[in-house]
Amino acid sequence: MCRPEHFAVHYSINVWMDPARPVDRDRALAQWDELRATYERLGHRVHLLDPRPGLPDMVFAANGAFVVGDRALGARFRELVRAGEAPAHRAWLEGVGIGVTEPVAVNEGEGDFAWAGGRILAGAGFRSDPAAHAELAAVFGVPVVPLELVDPRFYHLDTALAVLDRHTIAYFPPAFAPASQEILRTLFPQAIVATEADALVLGLNAVSDGRHVVLAAQASALADAVARAGFEPVPVDVSELLKSGGGVKCATLELHAPSIAEEHP
Ligand code: ARG
Repeated sequence: MCRPEHFAVHYSINVWMDPARPVDRDRALAQWDELRATYERLGHRVHLLDPRPGLPDMVFAANGAFVVGDRALGARFRELVRAGEAPAHRAWLEGVGIGVTEPVAVNEGEGDFAWAGGRILAGAGFRSDPAAHAELAAVFGVPVVPLELVDPRFYHLDTALAVLDRHTIAYFPPAFAPASQEILRTLFPQAIVATEADALVLGLNAVSDGRHVVLAAQASALADAVARAGFEPVPVDVSELLKSGGGVKCATLELHAPSIAEEHP
């Protein structure tokens, strides 16, 4: 994670971002501190990336790479304003012994790629280039399921879909092209279908450890559905990050430790 010390909305690279609408950085910091504390309370270890001035979106650590076990595909941001984040992630990952493959095609890391235990769900349509999917397959040696995003409000896969465990996803079907909806229906017959209201508070931008599902406090119907499916919803308020089109998952780069990489979502 990367503390939002320089968080701001100075430019607009998605439909959520309006530079005229003020961001309360202190509130963003307090919400982020609570998110971090929540992970630690649930028994997870949080590593920190140093925030850098001039990179107001660096809090969205999920975009910095895609990591499974001791391997990562580095990110290559679509927009120049975020390009400086990629080397910071790369240096950190290499520093802890994770091998980082330099990407060729544009990809925004875990924003568009989701580890689903033995396969990778890969979104494209707004940010990551479909050409990145072959790079993913080459680095991780597992099947890659390409999914096409069609609604600009859900511009990264992680705004429209969350992997809860290897058999269960939660998603908002209209964010996907019909053929991609069909693929998801086939692969995940027991999927949780989110309401539009919950998708619009980025409730699907959630992090699951296979048991707890950390999600936006405003996504109440989704929390109920997650509980009915046997998971434990853990609500947190990240409303300041929403002003930048981000949420819980965007703020979290999951490292999927090697020992659990096979079964953990
Ligand atoms: N403002 C950021 C951007 O548009 C938000 C990134 C959200 N990250 C994510 N994983 N969906 O790039």
